[in-house]
Amino acid sequence: MGEKWVLMKTAQTPTNIAVIKYWGKRDETLILPVNDSISVTLDPAHLCTTTTVAVSPAFQQDRMWLNGKEISLSGGRYQNCLREIRKRAREVEDKEKGIKIEKKDWEQLHLHIASYNNFPTAAGLASSAAGFACLVFALAKLMNVEEDESQLSAIARQGSGSACRSLFGGFVKWIMGKEEDGSDSLAVQLVDEKHWDDLFIIIAVVSSRQKETSSTSGMRESVETSLLLQHRAKEVVPKRTIQMEEAIKSRDFASFAKLTCADSNQFHAVCLDTSPPIFYMNDTSHRIISHVEKWNRSEGSPQVAYTFDAGPNAVLIARNRKAAAQLLQRLLFSFPPNSDTDLDSYIIGDKTILQDAG
Ligand code: DP6
Repeated sequence: MGEKWVLMKTAQTPTNIAVIKYWGKRDETLILPVNDSISVTLDPAHLCTTTTVAVSPAFQQDRMWLNGKEISLSGGRYQNCLREIRKRAREVEDKEKGIKIEKKDWEQLHLHIASYNNFPTAAGLASSAAGFACLVFALAKLMNVEEDESQLSAIARQGSGSACRSLFGGFVKWIMGKEEDGSDSLAVQLVDEKHWDDLFIIIAVVSSRQKETSSTSGMRESVETSLLLQHRAKEVVPKRTIQMEEAIKSRDFASFAKLTCADSNQFHAVCLDTSPPIFYMNDTSHRIISHVEKWNRSEGSPQVAYTFDAGPNAVLIARNRKAAAQLLQRLLFSFPPNSDTDLDSYIIGDKTILQDAG
């Protein structure tokens, strides 16, 4: 191997929004959840991460830049992902450039990683999901890793739990698994992005401030103190997951919306049941819920489902384009951006996927 070459790969991965939430770990290091979860992968045009990974004998150490600013790779989560991917690295040959990297060379070679989010990292919108999924996917391409998306998802999971669901498009299930080593805690695709393509997603960015309680510490506190979390994980989610899978497979929007809203509300109830209680939603979030509930009831059947992650932003899933147009009109009337309503902006998109920028 000469000293001059650099080999690079780029990948693009969208974020995902859970409709059955992951909240609580049974193993903090391996990131193993207390229940299964289900998510929808978003359109990469709006919320995605693009990551370029490079390897060269000239690099002295592993380094990473996020949105142009260098960040530390010393955290356990990055180290776990890098170690697991390096273990699976294989021989790479680029005859045109005269580069040959043997399997054993990967242990010595260092990486440079540049990652960009196409949305503000501080916007309180899930960025770790897309970020770790993209990192693992890009490294797997660079190192000619053989493992399929599900196997890679078990590595991305060790970066951030929700990241494992971003390796696929469409609707994705993270199976909690039973093994102590986490080998069966991975994501599978339930249906691809074409299966239910009339759905339309609008995100109401209620606040672009960073959340006060991170998901990681919030769920730790819930596991330690909330009895409702125990009940949810054992009794509620196992049944709800089966119903949700059925609703998705049969494109039953009424059932999908009911389950999605109920699960979001229960997750936030768990947060309130935590000691001290965690408040992720604010008054505007609550008013959006009331608005959607009232509208759905007046229509006779649900037009829109809502779900909120660990922050006040509303993810609204409309049954079709017409419902989305009506929803947007209603939102702009009742919650105009940058007014006293505290609303920053709207992100409008499709649910679909693209994960490989070549
Ligand atoms: C509310 O995946 O961010 O968005 O595994 O500690 O990195 P860590 O947590 P993270 O938690 C996501 C929580 C959630 C629900 C979900 O996405 O399922």
